[in-house]
Amino acid sequence: MPSDLSPIDKAKFVAAKKATEYVKSGMKVGLGTGSTAAWLVQCLGELVRDEGLRIKGVPTSSRTAMLARDVGIDVISLDEAKWLDLTIDGTDEYDRNLNLIKGGGGAHLQEKIVATASDQMIVITDPTKKVETLGAFPLPLEVIPFGWQTTKMLVEETLIGMDVLGQTTSLRMNGDAPFVSDEGNHILDLHLNRIGNPRQLSLVLNQIPGVVENGLFIDICDIVIVGFGDGRVEVNNINKGEVEKSRFDFLDDGNLFSDDI
Ligand code: A5P
Repeated sequence: MPSDLSPIDKAKFVAAKKATEYVKSGMKVGLGTGSTAAWLVQCLGELVRDEGLRIKGVPTSSRTAMLARDVGIDVISLDEAKWLDLTIDGTDEYDRNLNLIKGGGGAHLQEKIVATASDQMIVITDPTKKVETLGAFPLPLEVIPFGWQTTKMLVEETLIGMDVLGQTTSLRMNGDAPFVSDEGNHILDLHLNRIGNPRQLSLVLNQIPGVVENGLFIDICDIVIVGFGDGRVEVNNINKGEVEKSRFDFLDDGNLFSDDI
């Protein structure tokens, strides 16, 4: 690990490092997408190379697939794996019930399919992603390119009847062109500010023709691991109803060792 990381990268790194403790040889592991998940993939790669960890990784995006192969993880498709022991991914927001908004990186469709096909989903994050109520982060909605403007109109009409504070939507761009997901779709970002009933919103949005999947993850995540810039880590387990605290210490050479607090 480079020793000159920013506090936010240190937070992401220690969360990722802690999550590797849940990964055992022989497991099939879903590999998330984003900057936090990239730390996880690097940490797992190190364990594969240096400590003989044997896992099959199912990536949730072409970006993650490339990184996983680069670091030496044996990559298989979800169709080959069929079911996974564990998925570890980042998030854009999480609330006290461990419900999430994901898709800031445009990968939430594959991320949701992979996480749902796993015995357990662990989210790794820094403390900035915790919210009282979901919705400050724009909710990503993957839509098929055919008729996307009509779909956008229908989504906006639907939002009028929902328990949300904002109702505007925007097409995600990549420079001058619409963003295209790994599945060849576009993303609408829904600027809702506050989502009063995420479960209901998720169900209603997915009923609209042209909508492929929204970025709300309801009752999918089991554990959130929060890393802090000073090396502290909190493991929040919704099923056990407990928070376990530990700490990693950064050494001058950039290595880590861990302690229970
Ligand atoms: C990718 O589509 C997203 O769901 C990411 O997992 C999420 O945006 C978190 O990304 P960072 O770890 O980069 O914040």
